[in-house]
Amino acid sequence: MRLKDKVALVTGGARGIGLAIARALTAEGAVPVVADIDGDGARAAVATLDHRNGLALALNVADAESVAASIHAVTERYGRLDILVNNAGIGSSAPFLDLRLEDWNRTIAVNLTGAFLVAQAAARVMAGHGGGRIVNVTSPSGQRGGRGRAAYGTSKAGLELLTKVMAVELAEHGITVNAIAPGPIETEMVRHAHDAETRAAYGRLIPMGRYGNPEDIGAAAVFLCSDESRYVHGHVLNVDGGFGGAGLMTDK
Ligand SMILES: NC(=O)c1ccc[n+]([C@@H]2O[C@H](COP(=O)([O-])OP(=O)(O)OC[C@H]3O[C@@H](n4cnc5c(N)ncnc54)[C@H](O)[C@@H]3O)[C@@H](O)[C@H]2O)c1
Repeated sequence: MRLKDKVALVTGGARGIGLAIARALTAEGAVPVVADIDGDGARAAVATLDHRNGLALALNVADAESVAASIHAVTERYGRLDILVNNAGIGSSAPFLDLRLEDWNRTIAVNLTGAFLVAQAAARVMAGHGGGRIVNVTSPSGQRGGRGRAAYGTSKAGLELLTKVMAVELAEHGITVNAIAPGPIETEMVRHAHDAETRAAYGRLIPMGRYGNPEDIGAAAVFLCSDESRYVHGHVLNVDGGFGGAGLMTDK
């Protein structure tokens, strides 16, 4: 019970990686707050979690008013917020020459501006209550160029840098800020976005030779939210089966 009674907000927690993170934090004793643009999905998710005092919120991270209302709902109910996992995100892929402005704007609005809005509102609460933990979910697509990843990769690169700026500014408030960059993880997002060719390419590029599971990310989130990581700050933890570190992988 490394997170006993910590109030933990997970955005995009209705399914996929976010739900696995909420489940892993709850298993360590945290009080889960699942916030998602899919409010019914958030409610269904909370009902599956092993905690009597959890909360489900309908939240659009890209909407400042919705963010303010959600953070208010958390403080009304619990009086504080100890952990934020900024997980909500949308995938997008388009050749650079064809990328439409509306798709660029939507991707940046959710993945980058949304994470900023929630983190700022949450950090203001944490700063007034002695500190907390913030974990942003980024991506290897934000670390290296990938075909079709102009909008998505740029949004995640921005979030990686935001993680470091927040770490610099929020340390004095007792808030640690880190990021997890998951490799390809079996979720709805990936089931839609990865065709057979993409899967085969990852198969060749990941030393461990497999996609990850949402639970692999949940375990990393527990570490970054627990006291065991108290001196880990401004760090991006790749949880990717070795993808980020790999170079040439032939025998010849
Ligand atoms: N699956 C992967 O391989 C992978 C790899 C690297 C990074 N990521 C990142 O992990 C996070 C979760 O991805 P996933 O694969 O579980 O995706 P998913 O599509 O399965 O789940 C995303 C969740 O976010 C919610 N959401 C979307 N827009 C929202 C908004 N505006 N406000 C609030 N909630 C919103 C969705 O309703 C959904 O429940 C994302 O940030 C994604 O970019 C995923």
